Amino acid sequence: MAIESFVAELEAFREAASESLGRVADGAGLEQARIEFLGARSGRLKAIQKLLSGLVATDRPAGGRHFNEAKAAVTALLADVQERLVGGGAARPTADAIDVTLPGDPVRLGHVHPITQTIRRVQEIMARLGFESVDGPEVEDQWHNFEALAIPAEHPARDPLDNFYLAVARGADPLLLRSQTSTVQIRVMENRRPPLRIVSLGRVYRPDTADATHYPMFHQVEGLLIEPGTTMAHLKSVLRQLASSFLGGDVHVRYRPSFFPFTEPSVEFDMQWGGRWIEMGGAGMVDPAVLAAVGYDPDEVSGFAFGLGVERIAARRYGVADIRDFYRNDVRFLRQF
Ligand code: PHE
Repeated sequence: MAIESFVAELEAFREAASESLGRVADGAGLEQARIEFLGARSGRLKAIQKLLSGLVATDRPAGGRHFNEAKAAVTALLADVQERLVGGGAARPTADAIDVTLPGDPVRLGHVHPITQTIRRVQEIMARLGFESVDGPEVEDQWHNFEALAIPAEHPARDPLDNFYLAVARGADPLLLRSQTSTVQIRVMENRRPPLRIVSLGRVYRPDTADATHYPMFHQVEGLLIEPGTTMAHLKSVLRQLASSFLGGDVHVRYRPSFFPFTEPSVEFDMQWGGRWIEMGGAGMVDPAVLAAVGYDPDEVSGFAFGLGVERIAARRYGVADIRDFYRNDVRFLRQF
């Protein structure tokens, strides 16, 4: 056999081994390749070794060198693949390997939304004055949102354009998203007897165009006290306590005559804070017609009710100029509170 053919055999052997080892994906595949190429009994290198004796004597030393080279190359390749499969990752860390000695990324803790903080703060202040926090449904019927509150069918406040009425089956009683938390006064009075001191904070809905001071969904605080001998003086004391505790410092409360169908007399109240009078909400003595609607005897009990906007007092307290900021969910804004 000519030395050239012998060398060509070795070349083909190396190429086949390299190609095959490149495809090896696990230990079993590696062992299979080892047996096929370097196996002591019937490996392909063994077969080539037998050809050595077919070379003319003068070519044999060169043939032997080529043979040893090929064997060493394929053996080294096999070792590389083995390393890649078993310990490769640990032995040679790659660029994206995890460095377990580095300090971890700090976990940023969330916190309560400023509106929720305000709600909890008001509940806490009112609890100290003996007012229990209660909840009511956001989807209401006309009785609780209007009729029991002495808002009759022809009242402009019931206009479909001023409320979010729900689509209901034909003939079914109309339902709407409550437009005020005064609904909760009715729900509580229907189920309990006086004396009562309750406060209810929750969402209300009105189809207003969103601007710096309006939003189609906002929150109200509703307070209700029914006890024998209640007067406007009690109302004023409670509002002043709430304002002073919430805003801090000595806050003054001022009344302006107003009208609500469910209170008589009715007032709007302002608070003086930072040298300015700020409109806060509506209030009044619960109208006898409302007491009668829930089955109380207006000659026996009296009480007061008030309602104010949570966004408004939160905006005051935190110096927020645009209430839409409360709902944009921009964490850069929310993180400040
Ligand atoms: N419900 C009234 C409103 O939304 C506020 C109010 C509550 C007035 C209780 C009087 C008594 O405007």
